[in-house]
Amino acid sequence: MAKPITRPDYGIDAPAVMRNLFLAGVVFLLLAIFLPRTVHLAPNVALNSPSLFWPAGFLIGEGLLFLLYVKVGKFRHRDFMLSLHNWRGDEQVLDVGCGRGLLLAGAAKRIPDGHATGIDVWSNVDMGGNSPEATTHNLQLEGVTSRATLISIPAQQMPFPDATFDVVVSNLCLHNIYDRATRTVALRQIVRVLKPGGTALISDYKRTGEYAEAFRLLGLEVTTKHGSLVTTFPPLTVVIARKPR
Ligand SMILES: C[S@@+](CC[C@H](N)C(=O)[O-])C[C@H]1O[C@@H](n2cnc3c(N)ncnc32)[C@H](O)[C@@H]1O
Repeated sequence: MAKPITRPDYGIDAPAVMRNLFLAGVVFLLLAIFLPRTVHLAPNVALNSPSLFWPAGFLIGEGLLFLLYVKVGKFRHRDFMLSLHNWRGDEQVLDVGCGRGLLLAGAAKRIPDGHATGIDVWSNVDMGGNSPEATTHNLQLEGVTSRATLISIPAQQMPFPDATFDVVVSNLCLHNIYDRATRTVALRQIVRVLKPGGTALISDYKRTGEYAEAFRLLGLEVTTKHGSLVTTFPPLTVVIARKPR
């Protein structure tokens, strides 16, 4: 009989990317080991096969850094992000692209008198085993179901009234919106649903300059902080945007 799962499982971000890094690294490693030392590719073009150890080491190294993020770094980064707000305990929180509930559950634990809402489109390309059921199960295991709600909607189509949330958090979500115009709609939605005096903490590995610029143009006070260069892979930056009162 299968053992019941008793620990939350926050999944593997972009699982195909991690798999491909290891696969390509192993292919280069095998070529470096088993090809003859010199391979003649064309008349005057020769490959020195031991040089293939370099791409092998680079790709496997990146795969290992990614694994370190999944196993250790994402929990440290969650705590780092959530430490950027002074919690009162009664906040209304929105997690944009909550995935399997990493930040959502972390925020819900800090708000005994508040509520945390997670929105997502449950892409299995962006997060392994992604589904509302998997996230609900994690919320149960974390003991926060009574103060967390999941809604299946994209970031660019938020149904919430203006000025609903004290804090909006998001990690590794917005870069998955591929066109800039739609990303801008999502950023405008974040600003719209933030209460005056509220804070957005938006973390990503790219496009954070674009998010910061959009927030400034919308009148927010913006600063940025970098996550750990060792345990976040790819390295993450957090945009901290405060809506004036
Ligand atoms: C890499 S996962 C990160 C999940 C979670 N924030 C974390 O840090 O563990 C990215 C998440 O963004 C979600 N996502 C992608 N595009 C989205 C969109 N337009 N609106 C809402 N969620 C989206 C994916 O379904 C996925 O759950």
